[in-house]
Amino acid sequence: MRIISSTAAMQKLALQWKRAGVKIGFVPTMGYLHAGHLSLVRAARKRVGKSGKVVVSIYVNPTQFAPTEDLSKYPRDLKRDLKLCREAGVDVVFTPGDAEMYPGKADGNYSTYVVEENLGRVMEGASRPTHFRGVTTVVAKLFNIVLPDVSVFGQKDFQQAAIIRRMTRDLNFPVKIIVAPTLRERDGLAMSSRNKYLTGDLRRQATVLWCAIQVAKFAVQKSKSVTAADLKADLKKLIEIEPDAKLDYVEFFNPETLQRVAQVKRGTQMALAMFVGKTRLIDNARL
Ligand code: PAF
Repeated sequence: MRIISSTAAMQKLALQWKRAGVKIGFVPTMGYLHAGHLSLVRAARKRVGKSGKVVVSIYVNPTQFAPTEDLSKYPRDLKRDLKLCREAGVDVVFTPGDAEMYPGKADGNYSTYVVEENLGRVMEGASRPTHFRGVTTVVAKLFNIVLPDVSVFGQKDFQQAAIIRRMTRDLNFPVKIIVAPTLRERDGLAMSSRNKYLTGDLRRQATVLWCAIQVAKFAVQKSKSVTAADLKADLKKLIEIEPDAKLDYVEFFNPETLQRVAQVKRGTQMALAMFVGKTRLIDNARL
């Protein structure tokens, strides 16, 4: 396994592979890898086969964090990440630094961003207004550096995956986007690097997110169609029974357009975000 931190070296290698007809599968991550990430690596390998190359990027992208968010505290453990990647059969880990990814930024001389202007306005985009601009910018840059044929994203970040698909289509990136299912802990909590913050009773309280999804599924099965406003109110009450849990949003929407629906039925997508103590968790499900 090679570890590359220069953008020029990564791009050069990707170009060599391209010229030789080698397929490139790419998994962008912010590190602190868990079983969910490794399932994305397996999905990438499946797509490109033994003769293809799998690249994982590990980069905690500053432009997707607001000044008030947890950038400096974001969990990092490169040594462990590299070991996991090696064991998973990754060919290259790309670990750029900020100066490589955003040349000139420290002196105020970085000025190009990629903005998706529709799907990113709601939910995560409403709660974290600069977040998706950072995500689309870094993913577009990574696509230009790694030159993947296939790139794999997790379903846990449902809105992010929809925005990346849209960006890829709108800007003609020759990349196939694969969205792989969310991996869960035994009690239903979606795997996330942020789960590390859930110590003591907060870990137990966090499972209310999965309970809320089950309650919504049950409500739809039982009554075929429920008003979104009623279900939102019920889920807020359910979540906030936990002493340290606070609902940020719960939305019911069309999975393709992300447009809100007034009536929730089978096939409606739900997404929700909540704080447990200071940790913000997200999850989603098709009902
Ligand atoms: O999902 C993530 O970990 C990040 O948003 C991504 C796609 C790696 C971009 O920094």
